[in-house]
Amino acid sequence: MTALTRPETDRRAALDACEAGGRVDEAFLARVDEHFPRLHELFTRLYGGRADGREELAATVAAASASWNARPLDLKVRDAQRGADPGWFQSERMLGGACYVDRYAGNLAGIRDQIPYFRELGITYLHLMPLFDTPERDNDGGYAVSSYRRVNPSLGTMPQLAELAAELRLAGISLMLDFVFNHTSNEHEWAQRAVAGDDEYADFYLIFPDRQMPDAYERTTREIFPDDHRGSFVPLEDGRWIWSTFSRQQWDLNYANPAVFRAMAGEMLFLANQGVEVLRMDAVAFIWKRLGTSCESLPEAHLLLQAFNAVLAMAAPGVVFTSEAIVHPDEVVGYLSPDECALSYNPLQMALTWEALATRDGRLLQQALERRHELPPGTAWVNYVRGHDDIGWTFADEDAAELGIDGHAHRRFLNRFYTGRHEGTFARGVAFQENPTTGDARVAGTTASLAGIEAGDPRGEDRVVLAHALALSTGGIPLLYLGDEVAQLNDYSYADDPVRRGDTRWVHRGNRPRDAYAQRGDDTTPAGRVFHRLTKLISVRQQSPELAGNALIPFHTPHAAVVGYQRPGDGTRLLVLANVGDAEIEIDPLTFSGFAQTSFDLVHNTEIDLDEGVTLRPHGFVWLRVTPA
Ligand code: GLC
Repeated sequence: MTALTRPETDRRAALDACEAGGRVDEAFLARVDEHFPRLHELFTRLYGGRADGREELAATVAAASASWNARPLDLKVRDAQRGADPGWFQSERMLGGACYVDRYAGNLAGIRDQIPYFRELGITYLHLMPLFDTPERDNDGGYAVSSYRRVNPSLGTMPQLAELAAELRLAGISLMLDFVFNHTSNEHEWAQRAVAGDDEYADFYLIFPDRQMPDAYERTTREIFPDDHRGSFVPLEDGRWIWSTFSRQQWDLNYANPAVFRAMAGEMLFLANQGVEVLRMDAVAFIWKRLGTSCESLPEAHLLLQAFNAVLAMAAPGVVFTSEAIVHPDEVVGYLSPDECALSYNPLQMALTWEALATRDGRLLQQALERRHELPPGTAWVNYVRGHDDIGWTFADEDAAELGIDGHAHRRFLNRFYTGRHEGTFARGVAFQENPTTGDARVAGTTASLAGIEAGDPRGEDRVVLAHALALSTGGIPLLYLGDEVAQLNDYSYADDPVRRGDTRWVHRGNRPRDAYAQRGDDTTPAGRVFHRLTKLISVRQQSPELAGNALIPFHTPHAAVVGYQRPGDGTRLLVLANVGDAEIEIDPLTFSGFAQTSFDLVHNTEIDLDEGVTLRPHGFVWLRVTPA
């Protein structure tokens, strides 16, 4: 075994390993020249003290070389296209959709049958929830992965997945899959070998003989799934303890061991070669642990992501990462860089959209758009109204305090509001992971149910549309949870299912609502009306170049209920004004003195004379094309 030394020496060892594995392609070599130095530096920072550093680095690069050799030609063509247009995901034509394969379409063949619908809707980016082999019963909705190379047999096969990816690509849709790399399931081969006493694999996980270390770590870690188990560890049958941040069948990998990095990089490259164009880097905040810290978003977590990025850049250069970090906003933005994750979920905007709808006060959201929206060049937000997970109130307490809001009390209010416990609430949600010790909770529910449609609130549909109007216009990729566009309601049947009962997120993961889809052309139904209004917004977005990219200029009005921003284009701007309140608001003409008198309301297809001011209905909004005066 050899430790890492100088870059040139280690590079030689890596190339020798590549050659031992077969031909080394010219194009690959050129990318090694470009990316090896940073990979080496990252490895040195992560694994400089390890005796096996050089072997693992060499094996990683050799795996990348073999993966490039095996990469199908059409994917290499795609790589070249992406290389020529690295900002492809910034386009105003981008629209994401997310669904579970089984719940939405039965299986992969069913998803294929939905391609015409995806095109009708304008989807260009499809997130299929984890579809891999997984423990049969408890599997955290597929996030406990037993093999990254085998599709769950009830959904299809790996060749079918690759074929689907190719068909989607032809239809203009990029496939995104989860790379659940913080943990494997307890049934993964590595996990099985680890518990069986295979030393090589025992070091893939964090296993302790007794409670001494687990107790020490748990002094500073957060409980993520307290309904499943308290703390961050679960007991093994033999009395030892294993790190398990999420549910008991999800065992955290030990990234302090470079063999884990090498092995997972191999799984990542395998997926990239199936035609996955975006990898959703699941639970990024948790991948590195250090005693005495929260074990979240540590500097090494970033180094690891950058190292995965460098490997990808060598062997599948067209693929990008989306970071899934549901943490403090300062930390979320830290994962975004072209060398780390080009895309990131925007949990702050999501949560504050709901916050604004509950309070009828847009100031926290406006503040977030002003100070937390900007991103490094070459990166973009993924903006969503809700996902397959719960809604957590991830705003910064210090931001809220500036507006006189007590973060802790406000979260409690929002939880009560959205779980239907606050008097007069329009929301029908369910609490998720209520922590008896801290009183924390998050919220589950579909957009339509949370927005008031389930409760029969006359403003419910307007709220659904308003929330999407924000996600579709603030920048980056808007991501729709499929079913929301036809106002899908909560599905309470999970409570009767012994497997799903313990996880209230299933309330918003119902099957594809066939009836609602059948009504989508019928404006006398909520499904039809919501569909009609949302598809209109999508088509306006597609035709508004101002909505490309991420640039956003705040726009102030004297009304607390109005959220305002401009999206700069070439000569024109798109001015968004959204009223999150229950009352009609008239915005004074003086507010618009910086613009030419005539503007065009893109959503309602009418000219607006700004000298007459702008009137916003309750929960109304406008997308105005304006010209700076
Ligand atoms: C992510 C997923 C979530 C899952 C967790 C553990 O947060 O979105 O559904 O439970 O990771 O994999």
